[in-house]
Order: sequence, then C-alpha cells, then structure tokens
Amino acid sequence: GAPVEVDVSKLAPGEMMTVEWRGKPVWVLRRTPEMLASLDATDARVSDPNSDKPMQPDYAKNKHRSIKPEYLVAVGICTHLGCSPSEKFKMGAESGMGADWQGGFLCPCHGSLFDLAGRVYSSMPAPDNLEVPPHQYLADSTILVG
Ligand code: FES
Repeated sequence: GAPVEVDVSKLAPGEMMTVEWRGKPVWVLRRTPEMLASLDATDARVSDPNSDKPMQPDYAKNKHRSIKPEYLVAVGICTHLGCSPSEKFKMGAESGMGADWQGGFLCPCHGSLFDLAGRVYSSMPAPDNLEVPPHQYLADSTILVG
C-alpha cells in the first residue's frame, strides 16, 4: 500500500482522527498536557512501558511512544484478536471506568485496556502494545504514514 499523508493542523488538543493505511485504521491523537501527564500514572500498570519488545520502531521506544510527545500515531487494532478498541478519554470517576482510570482505550471484545500511549495494561488478553506504524513528519503538522 502507498504511504498516506495526514494533515493534523486542524486537530485540537484532546482530539483524535482516524485515517486508513493498508486497509487498517491509523489513529492520530493530539494529546493535551494532562493526557501526557497521565502516562506517568500508568507507567507502573502497563506490561511494556518503554515498548522494549521487538516489532516497534525506535521512535516508539519511550514512554509516550511517539516522535513528538504531543501526537500519538498508532494502529487502532487490538493486538489480541483484532477488534477495534474504543476511546475512553475521560479520566477519573466520571469516566465510568473507575476512579483511578487515567484515560485510554477499551477493547470491547475481551476487555483489554490500553493507556493514552496505546500501552497495554498488565494481565490483559492483548499481549502487546498497539502497533506504531512507520511514519515521519514532512512538516510541522504533516505526517506521512507508511
Ligand atoms: Fe481485544 Fe480480545 S480482541 S481483547
């Protein structure tokens, strides 16, 4: 499949857009400072906090799993059996996910939880963090996926 150019200039902080690349949904989430801070809280609760497992590009091997901390670029397919996780961006009690929920994604099929960097929580059916696809910045707000 051909690479896909994504214009993120209209993406507001806290918003996510989805583009298609090789028939897969690719999410681009523009994280707020609060969302980025939530990754400190989930660090101890995810199984591969620095994405040390193979199959991750080097620029995903950090806490925020991205080239620029503000933008998460990830394939929106659960690493268990391929369902589509849902956005659960609200934090705390009003999230409906429990008072200590830090925001992230919930897979509806077997309940895997991911944080706002797509890192899978420990002891979930999904074995791996969400895939970060190969990508690069062509300009400040233009991302080339693929
Ligand atoms: Fe997502 Fe099973 S497919 S938890």
